[in-house]
Amino acid sequence: MSKMYEKLQKCVSIIREKTDFVPEVALVLGSGLGEYARNMDVKAEVPYSEIEGFPVSTVAGHDGRFLFGYVEKVPMVIMKGRVHYYEGYDMTDVVMPIRIMGMLGAKKVILTNAAGGVNQDFQPGDLMMITDHISTFVPSPLRGENLDELGTRFPDMSHVYDPELCEVIRKAAKKLNVPLKEGIYVQCSGPNYETPAEIRAFRGMGVDAVGMSTVCEAMAANHMGMKVCGISCITNMAAGILDQPLNHKEVQEVADRVKTTFERLVTETVMQ
Ligand code: 6GU
Repeated sequence: MSKMYEKLQKCVSIIREKTDFVPEVALVLGSGLGEYARNMDVKAEVPYSEIEGFPVSTVAGHDGRFLFGYVEKVPMVIMKGRVHYYEGYDMTDVVMPIRIMGMLGAKKVILTNAAGGVNQDFQPGDLMMITDHISTFVPSPLRGENLDELGTRFPDMSHVYDPELCEVIRKAAKKLNVPLKEGIYVQCSGPNYETPAEIRAFRGMGVDAVGMSTVCEAMAANHMGMKVCGISCITNMAAGILDQPLNHKEVQEVADRVKTTFERLVTETVMQ
């Protein structure tokens, strides 16, 4: 058995000492979207700091804990706060929480994030369902010894974002009358934002939104057979589109403005 698989099993057993809750759906909350937990009937909480060997975020405002409970009777685990590659962790550590949620029973995962708009038809405040991604600019989280217990060495990535889950999100948006964009997300390493030349290059590649998370998580979840979907909150336009510098405060403010709509969309998606 690989060292990483043993480490994951140890984390799972620490969590199992605290709760026997079996989630069906895992939800990862992006920055500014952390208040979603108010929609959950919480049955158990496990702070990441209580899980030995678990990566703990260093970013202010990324309060890290697993929340177990029900949203509209659906058993869920919420990841409130995630670690990012730019904090200095290896990709295999960044995806540990996803793998652990899968090992705890979650069959589906909803990934969310705050992202920069690359598509010029987008506006800050738009919600974009992720239909596919580009992972080429960050290392694969599957690099290194394969975890055979979880999945195959050379996993197919033809349908990372499950077409059926995507359809559920479309229907939920329609029902709620929430305008929903769709597009391709690229993960960059961060922590810096991109240059205008990088954003132009991305646009030429067919990218619609850019961020610093999500893709590695989607790949790890896909590797272990979880059904994946993702929603980006476009908090700002990427560099070179508007003639104004990007700042993290703006990202937080727009996420704040959109969060109730975003929360309704996630809840409606979970219910269907
Ligand atoms: Cl413009 N770039 C990246 N990498 N992440 C972001 C962003 C831009 N806006 C919000 N998150």
